[in-house]
Amino acid sequence: MKGKVNRVVLVGTGFVGSSYAFAMLNQRVTEELVLVDLNKEKSEGDAMDLNHGMPFAPSPTKIWFGSYADCKDADLVVLCAGANQKPGETRLDLVEKNTRIFKGIVEQVMGSGFDGIFLVATNPVDILTYAVWKFSGLPKERVIGSGTILDTARLRFLLGDYFNVDTRNVHAYIIGEHGDTELPVWSHADIGGKPILDIMAEKDEYKVEDLQGIFTNVRDAAYHIIQRKGATYYGIAMGLVRLTKAILHNENSILTVSAYLDGEYGQSDIYIGVPAIVNRDGIREVLELILNESEQKQFAHSVDVLKEIKDPFFN
Ligand code: LAC
Repeated sequence: MKGKVNRVVLVGTGFVGSSYAFAMLNQRVTEELVLVDLNKEKSEGDAMDLNHGMPFAPSPTKIWFGSYADCKDADLVVLCAGANQKPGETRLDLVEKNTRIFKGIVEQVMGSGFDGIFLVATNPVDILTYAVWKFSGLPKERVIGSGTILDTARLRFLLGDYFNVDTRNVHAYIIGEHGDTELPVWSHADIGGKPILDIMAEKDEYKVEDLQGIFTNVRDAAYHIIQRKGATYYGIAMGLVRLTKAILHNENSILTVSAYLDGEYGQSDIYIGVPAIVNRDGIREVLELILNESEQKQFAHSVDVLKEIKDPFFN
């Protein structure tokens, strides 16, 4: 609507949600940011604390502790609510708890007359994004999960470090479940347009097993961080802000998000991490990479693991 300001409603102001709110203000992504959480005191405190920093922000964002009624005029509802992983827990262990929590949340958001885009961050994000799509009844392109956006960032960071190049010149994807069955797409990884596998072949100092080590560190990063500080939140929050920008600013950016597959990669009826073009309307298109045989097998396995968990809840 002409002249309408962008409004984002954040549901869940725990570690991830409040880090997202902080990053949103410092990157000035939206005109309005509404905080919704069961813990009224904490969220009101967050809103006050963030408002007091506003004079230091690049430009002001109106932020307040609100309610599900504020979703009516929202462009985007970001779901960070729910239980998070405890040390030793996998993301898939959280399914039962968080699916139940999400049913109630989505019903209240939709009850406001919300007709925008959902962005899901809570784990297991691929299953919960599917759940939000089912519970909301919105078109699949308007329900997006953070997917492997952080995993891809971790891969690019570690590859940039290994080759001593700016991460912005590293093009590489992690696809699949945001979890233990994710996979790197080495067949489409390049630095400045030069395939990484070609670069590896050029110098003796580069060992192919180093790439396996890098991928292992990416896949297990959350476990290592959780063991040290109890949770992860800064990286995912920054990834959510990147996704919010792509949506609100209609960027048509390619990001590895949890998107609904309807035949792409030979898979259907699943939300899973794939590269997709993201804009004001949500997911414009899933980018279908030509995977090699090993990558196809790993991706299909990742789909199967997610379906094994998802189907009993929804099929
Ligand atoms: C992580 C959480 C977001 O990978 O799952 O850090």
